Amino acid sequence: MTGTYAELKGRTVVVTGGSRGIGAHTARAFAAQGASVCVVGRDETALAAVVAEITAAGGEAVAAVADVTDSAALDGVRRTVDERFGPVDVLAAFAGGQGFPVPTAELSEQRWREVLESDLTSVFLTVQAFLPGMLERGTGSILTMSSAAGRQPSGANLAYGVADAGVVMLTRHLSAELGPHGIRVNCLAPSAILTERVQQRMPAEVQARVAATHPLNRLGTPADVADAALFLASDGAGWLTGLTVDVAGGRITN
Ligand SMILES: NC(=O)c1ccc[n+]([C@@H]2O[C@H](COP(=O)([O-])OP(=O)(O)OC[C@H]3O[C@@H](n4cnc5c(N)ncnc54)[C@H](OP(=O)(O)O)[C@@H]3O)[C@@H](O)[C@H]2O)c1
Repeated sequence: MTGTYAELKGRTVVVTGGSRGIGAHTARAFAAQGASVCVVGRDETALAAVVAEITAAGGEAVAAVADVTDSAALDGVRRTVDERFGPVDVLAAFAGGQGFPVPTAELSEQRWREVLESDLTSVFLTVQAFLPGMLERGTGSILTMSSAAGRQPSGANLAYGVADAGVVMLTRHLSAELGPHGIRVNCLAPSAILTERVQQRMPAEVQARVAATHPLNRLGTPADVADAALFLASDGAGWLTGLTVDVAGGRITN
């Protein structure tokens, strides 16, 4: 984390997908700025570890176990945050995944529906859970998560690409609808990010090959994504909404 944003101190931030990878890193980055952070995921143990790490570093965090495809569970998250920290200033809807390659002829209907649920419908449900509070206060910053696969055809499966392209339009639609209410909505579209999971699954020689496809000649890091998230949530981005930021080392194709 490189930037310092004094105004984020004391703000309340919810990060879905906060139990690991990009979301956990982003949660730690907001906490390091003095924000109070709620991390959301399904893995209670992993969430507890993130909270313990933030707390040990002097930050404020709470865990909320929820499946983001379940609107009732998301209502529970909102109640937890309300009780512990108060109204939400920044909502980072980052939970998702499931981009692994599958030829379309072999992509089952069930898998298609699951990916659309976990990567697109979940974002709609997450936003809906926190939107009434933001509308009431006339302020808020929403960050959504797409990917390079949502920006152009890729090796990821079709459902993932379509879901992530949907997140880009969801972001633009919401930015137009919610701007007059003081709410900004921006999207992050990372290319290959070296999370723990990617590190485990992608052999070193493949990492090097993928890195070389990026003009900046390296893979992204969770910190690269967290830095972009901090900026977009900061007051310095107060005139920015509806953007999709390609956190992609220069691999920009549109
Ligand atoms: N890594 C990359 O190269 C890359 C590139 C572009 C976009 N992205 C996007 O960035 C986001 C985070 O990716 P990552 O690489 O950090 O993935 P990761 O390490 O696999 O972490 C995924 C996170 O999403 C949560 N999650 C997934 N489905 C969920 C559900 N139904 N309910 C609640 N939580 C759920 C997981 O929580 P639990 O495990 O606790 O359930 C976990 O915290 C994803 O949306 C992914 O598509 C990643």
